[in-house]
Amino acid sequence: MKYSIAVLPGDGVGPEVVAEAVKVIEAVGRNFGHAFELTYGRVGGNAIDELGTPLPPETEEICQNADAILFGAVGGPQWDDPQAKTRPEDGILALRKNLGLFANLRPVKVFPAIIDSSPVKPHLLKGVDMIVVRELTGGLYFAKPKKRWQTSRGRRAVDTLRYTEKEIDRILRVGFELAGGRRRRLTSVDKANVLASGRLWREVAVEVSRDYPDVELEHMLVDNASMQIIRQPAHFDVIVAENTFGDILTDEASVLSGSMGMLPSASLAGLSRPGHRGRRTVSPSTRSGPALYEPIHGSAPDIAGEGIANPIGTILSAAMLLKHSFGLDDEAAAVERAVDGVLAEGYRTGDIAADGGTVVTTARMGDVIAGAI
Ligand code: IPM
Ligand code: MG
Repeated sequence: MKYSIAVLPGDGVGPEVVAEAVKVIEAVGRNFGHAFELTYGRVGGNAIDELGTPLPPETEEICQNADAILFGAVGGPQWDDPQAKTRPEDGILALRKNLGLFANLRPVKVFPAIIDSSPVKPHLLKGVDMIVVRELTGGLYFAKPKKRWQTSRGRRAVDTLRYTEKEIDRILRVGFELAGGRRRRLTSVDKANVLASGRLWREVAVEVSRDYPDVELEHMLVDNASMQIIRQPAHFDVIVAENTFGDILTDEASVLSGSMGMLPSASLAGLSRPGHRGRRTVSPSTRSGPALYEPIHGSAPDIAGEGIANPIGTILSAAMLLKHSFGLDDEAAAVERAVDGVLAEGYRTGDIAADGGTVVTTARMGDVIAGAI
């Protein structure tokens, strides 16, 4: 079987880390006898410079024709003019929206070998293994009105936090399905004490939970959740949150694993396989396209081009791609084992080298991980 992957390296460190994930995918292809066909496309700031838009039609077409998308990062100071008509970030936002990728899975785990790289005390990190399910195509990021305008009394701007019952229902089902195959605790994050959308979120969470009697549902206000993630991170199993809340909480949660450079993500149009306990599947949205996989870190323009970025978040995103889009569970597990093994042997990029270790470049890290598969 041939698997086709759209590869969108993007800006900043994106191309550097994606190149290493590609090495790993190729090593999987060689060792397991699969043919991966990679097609590259432009996205983000470099697409604005070359083609005038952060998501050119040719890139969209490459994505539509692929079975899965591997994405690097977008953005940089040269495109940060607040008055600009279009921004690099619009590229990734449009991809998520156009492909119906409403469910963003962000697993957070602790890698024992690099535990010293986390600022959180080691005893709190024991047993940390959570997955944040971030709603990705609605909420504050997308709802209208969203604009800025001039009035006689100064400038104004508005963003809207609107959710439909259906949007809340489907993201919570993804969370419940995942929790059913894990430790069976779901933390639904909202701001129900202040926001009407938060009260609807909480109501729908209670309704959906009736279909999952063996998963324990708890509600947590987002401000409290941001504290508990650091105070008692091992408490969490599956967290489900609004788009913006999920964005913020996952940057915070990444410090548990030592570096933001470690965390992968998968953006899906639904769960294609039921969460191991065989109840109901979460059906894809109507406009569903191929799933997209990207590290949670950004383009890190300050270190771009230096060969020091950590490629592990992108490599683990490639593992999620193999598993979720292609059902290649053994191959995905082999990639994860290779990462664990290489960390245990002491290989480090600068961001995870608190304990010393052998500090290597981005490319060398990719080589040793690919070599360990
Ligand atoms: C992320 C990033 C993006 C987001 C940016 C680059 C638009 O922060 O994937 O977490 O806000 O979703
Ligand atoms: Mg973010």
